[in-house]
Amino acid sequence: MARILITSALPYINGVKHLGNLAGSMLPADVYARAMRLLGHEVLYICATDEHGTPAELAAQEAGISVAEYCETMHVAQKEAGAQFKLSYDYFGRSSAPSNHALTQHFANVLEANDLIEERSSKQVYSNADDRFLPDRYVEGTCPNCEFEKARGDQCDNCGKLLDPVDLVNPYSSVSGSHDVEVRETNHLYLKQSVMSDKLRAWVDEAKDWPVLASSIAYKWLDEGLRDRAITRDLKWGIPVTGADGKPRAGFETKVFYVWFDAPIAYMAATQDWAEETGGDWERWWRTDKGAADGESVQFMGKDNVAFHTLSFPTTILGSGEPWKLVDELKAFNWVTWYGGKFSTSQKRGVFMNQALDIAPSDYWRWHLMANAPESDDAAFTWEEFQTGVNSDLANVLGNFVNRITKYTASKFDGKVPSGGEFGESEAWILQELQTRIPALIEYYNGREFRKAMAETRAIWAAGNEYLTQAAPWTHYKTDVDQAAVGVRVGLNLVALFGIIAQPIIPDAAAKILEAVDVPAGNRTWNFGDYTGIHDLLDALPHGLEIGAPDVLFAKIEDSDVEDWTGRFGGEK
Ligand code: MF3
Ligand code: ZN
Repeated sequence: MARILITSALPYINGVKHLGNLAGSMLPADVYARAMRLLGHEVLYICATDEHGTPAELAAQEAGISVAEYCETMHVAQKEAGAQFKLSYDYFGRSSAPSNHALTQHFANVLEANDLIEERSSKQVYSNADDRFLPDRYVEGTCPNCEFEKARGDQCDNCGKLLDPVDLVNPYSSVSGSHDVEVRETNHLYLKQSVMSDKLRAWVDEAKDWPVLASSIAYKWLDEGLRDRAITRDLKWGIPVTGADGKPRAGFETKVFYVWFDAPIAYMAATQDWAEETGGDWERWWRTDKGAADGESVQFMGKDNVAFHTLSFPTTILGSGEPWKLVDELKAFNWVTWYGGKFSTSQKRGVFMNQALDIAPSDYWRWHLMANAPESDDAAFTWEEFQTGVNSDLANVLGNFVNRITKYTASKFDGKVPSGGEFGESEAWILQELQTRIPALIEYYNGREFRKAMAETRAIWAAGNEYLTQAAPWTHYKTDVDQAAVGVRVGLNLVALFGIIAQPIIPDAAAKILEAVDVPAGNRTWNFGDYTGIHDLLDALPHGLEIGAPDVLFAKIEDSDVEDWTGRFGGEK
């Protein structure tokens, strides 16, 4: 059995996340974590809120509360939203935690000692009206690349180009709107990524099982030539810059570390906090000299995060010269779009995590988003496809199957798993199906190929329906009750199996199904061995076991629902 450390990109603290954020990191990480646990691996799934940087300060300002207070509230809100979506974090921490302050300061000092951090003079936009420097999003202006007039200091939302605030044409303060800004010199710490290029390239060359999306982004940056990056900012909120003596660094009293420097370090710091709370041992997950070398580390993220996880964060880790574990497998996703466009709260485009569950249960979203995971390309969410997918896959294929066979058992077999009869051709057929499909399903999960895993799951459920059509217990019942009993018994065992394989994706419905056919918790794992035991799975429920018939598992989505939601959250107009 393996030891697998799983992380999903830390969601920014500013605001509740939309379904695209969920689909591109947290949800697949959760589905994967659940699958790996079912396979018997030792899993630790870590996430946290990413609480620093200008977005946090700006959002707090808008809310009219202190940044600390804002982050506290939003951390709780995001944790709650995660719980409602059944995200099975082992720990959901905070990048603002004391552990991350200490670890970030530690890395900065070690990197400086290793000559990988250097203090340099840099040009920054200064606002006379606000009496402060304006880092990143604190300054807006015209994009030098595409002339978009509301480009932000760190990035143009129109053309996507990463910017330096001093590049903006016609810059103004987003704090006060003042155009009275000038460029001033001030010192910052720079991470010398450029000198790490060869080491990083060699590491990327060796990476196995990364999707092309991830390695191609890493190579693109390497080929363009890595630039040294400032890892401090003129901000109040963040991790203070200290010297090797732990005291504030001279000249950096009003500066903090850049959010992208401390955020990935929070993966480790959050693991330390998890250990602190649970009595666990964080070092076996992160220190290669303390056992982490034998484990696997898998990180989930959207494509915009790949450069940070393949270049700057590895620079921190490799550059420290300390035995920290680097990521093994990196699963990157494209975007989920809203009808091909961007999610936007202000324009009522798209559904956000706090609204989604008033519309439909978490299982519906989980199924749909995973079945349409943006793996090879961006994937457009549409209400119409949500309706079709839920109605056909969940309601018709899975729901109907469970319903038909459990209800029939209740009416004709006293609600008990019947004995009698012998396996024949139909049973041989379904057995054959399962013997090829279940190993395939597990291979897809192991390879983190979610669309394929979902398609295989659906195919297994569909094979169950096909089996019932072939076995037709309702027809046999009139002439040969024993023959009917075989179909019902195998059908009930398939209900159990379908619930078992559904667990990572639709945990609530799976639990209902498994309760109905009374599968004890210990028998719900994916313990398929070498798959030769699948035959026994078709006759695993004790004969005579009393089973229940669950109420409607999945209510169908009506056209009127789609119309209503389109009005409230946008759609094709
Ligand atoms: N907050 C970033 C985003 O949402 C992701 C940070 S991932 C981390 O894009 F590793 F840096 F924490
Ligand atoms: Zn632009």
